[in-house]
Amino acid sequence: MADRQFVDGEVVYPSEEVIAKARLKDWDAMARRAAEDLEGFWAQEAEELEWYRKWDKVLDDSGKPFYKWFTGAKVNIVHNCLDRYQKSWRRNKLALIWVGEPGDVRTYSYYALNREVNQFANILKAMGIQKGDRITIYMPRVPEIVIAMLACAKIGAVHSVVYGGFSVDALQGRIEDSQSRMVITADGGWMNGKIVRLKDTVDEALKRCPSVETVITVRRTGHEVRMEPGRDYWYHDLIGLPIATGKCPTEQLDAEDPLFILYTSGTTGTPKAILHTHGGYMVGIYTTLKYVFDIQDEDRWWCAADPGWITGHSYIVYGPLLNGATTFIYEGAPTYPYPDRWWALIEKYGITILYTAPTAIRGLMRFGESWPKRHDLSSLRLLGSVGEPINPEAWRWYYEVIGGGRCPIMDTWWQTETGMFMITPTPVVPLKPGSGTRPFFGQEAEIVDEDGNPVPDGEEGYLVLKRPWPAMMRTIYNDPDRYVDQYWSRFPGKYMTGDSAKRDRDGYFWIIGRVDDVIKVSGYRLGTAEIESALVSHPAIAEAAAIGLPHEVKGNAIHAYCILRTGYEPSEKLAEELRQHVREHMGPIARPEKIHFVDKLPKTRSGKIMRRVLKAQALGLDVGDTSTMED
Ligand code: WT7
Repeated sequence: MADRQFVDGEVVYPSEEVIAKARLKDWDAMARRAAEDLEGFWAQEAEELEWYRKWDKVLDDSGKPFYKWFTGAKVNIVHNCLDRYQKSWRRNKLALIWVGEPGDVRTYSYYALNREVNQFANILKAMGIQKGDRITIYMPRVPEIVIAMLACAKIGAVHSVVYGGFSVDALQGRIEDSQSRMVITADGGWMNGKIVRLKDTVDEALKRCPSVETVITVRRTGHEVRMEPGRDYWYHDLIGLPIATGKCPTEQLDAEDPLFILYTSGTTGTPKAILHTHGGYMVGIYTTLKYVFDIQDEDRWWCAADPGWITGHSYIVYGPLLNGATTFIYEGAPTYPYPDRWWALIEKYGITILYTAPTAIRGLMRFGESWPKRHDLSSLRLLGSVGEPINPEAWRWYYEVIGGGRCPIMDTWWQTETGMFMITPTPVVPLKPGSGTRPFFGQEAEIVDEDGNPVPDGEEGYLVLKRPWPAMMRTIYNDPDRYVDQYWSRFPGKYMTGDSAKRDRDGYFWIIGRVDDVIKVSGYRLGTAEIESALVSHPAIAEAAAIGLPHEVKGNAIHAYCILRTGYEPSEKLAEELRQHVREHMGPIARPEKIHFVDKLPKTRSGKIMRRVLKAQALGLDVGDTSTMED
């Protein structure tokens, strides 16, 4: 590795200390092994986990792009997250350390977590939940979100977590599409010193969701909430019932049985339910977290995302538990009560690995070095970045000020659909600030042009993935045609990521951004369609188009171009009302930065809004090919 020659750009090498500590020293050898024998590589990883019955086949591509992994095997991800530790010393290890925003603390050993998951699983069963049923989870960052997810998985129910920052329209649409029988929520959560009233939002959404029979509510904030008799139950009352015993058998499932669906936005239309399975997903995230963040027994791992996004599913909940690690969760805002909250937590809990998004780094950077400098951050040994490209200034600050120049930054590129890290370094890989380096073991990525032909190094194009991987999405729940259409039809045989990127002469990949109707705001993935439909649900708006424009902290900010109905006049007051309207319907992250009132929107002759034209105009760039534009 050390004698590797680089021809392009700045390179940051790992120190001797980092290399000495790393479990995997020879990246090239492992990459070669996986390239030569993809199935052998993944089978070897899978052997490190426990199966009720081993697989007949590692990869079944007979129905591609509906790939299957570990077919014939019997497994349950929860068995590997919890059950298998109960007979070893690890039952006494901390699985979860949780800190609430007001300062309350709860910890769970692997024993305690397993016990409460069993208790709650028994409740779900007693309420008639069966294998394959969908359950929507809409919760703040509290330990019970982890317990709820694991309890569902344990009995073979399919969880559909909706991020607690979403509001009523987003929640309702996702409950309805998944046909969930149950919603698990909390009265509220703490954020920035205020209560986010989640149960109220559930009540509002359920007015239009007939499939839901039961709502279970965790008491977190303690404020008054409405409880509907016969439908609503308190979590703590149920857990106290005699049937909620601490023992519950784990359902033996097929490797390809669904584990969860998770909604994400894509090209046009409503959010799609990305489906992941027990077997392949388990192997993929176990392996990636093990090699990329090199999780070891003395580590305290903090993935500062929300469990409601794929980052949280894979690397707050399942990945760390599969690795027998200690995972840390903080409920609230990084700046509450002061901008050193995160740094104080790292010091107090001795966090060794911090994994967060560039937007968070940029946000905290604004407060200056003095806040982190007050704290001893020497426990950190690795850092991570995810969600959007990290700019060089943020990279430097993260590396020097937070990591003390000691901690390599794992810039991990992946997606809800990929389930696991896809382009990422490991600790021994020389880094280039802003690049996710190279594809993970067994993967091959390529940059192609409009026609699917590879472009020369250094040129921008569509990022595609060429080999299947175990944690890949299996389909879009209830919409397999859309799965084929959106990911596999544009470049046959290759997975289309929806990102544009470049590869440099050293084979390192540089992500540029989305090429579809997705806007990455503060690392959150939002679809233009949902924002636009929230806007046109306001009586003043006839038509709307949303685009993302560069923003210093958020990466991108939402700009909405609106055509008013007759009788309405543009005003700052109306613009503010519209921003507030989107916030109430979709959630705070979807609130547009700016509303532009216009008379016309650029459209194709078939009536599709040309958002790229709006964007080019706003940025003062060449609008490109407009041959399909009406007049
Ligand atoms: C999109 C996927 C699963 C990670 C959380 C986001 C962007 C993600 C990086 C990165 C540059 C990144 C891409 C991707 N993205 N990680 N390290 N560098 N861009 O998952 O919400 O499904 O979003 O996030 O645009 O397509 P997601």
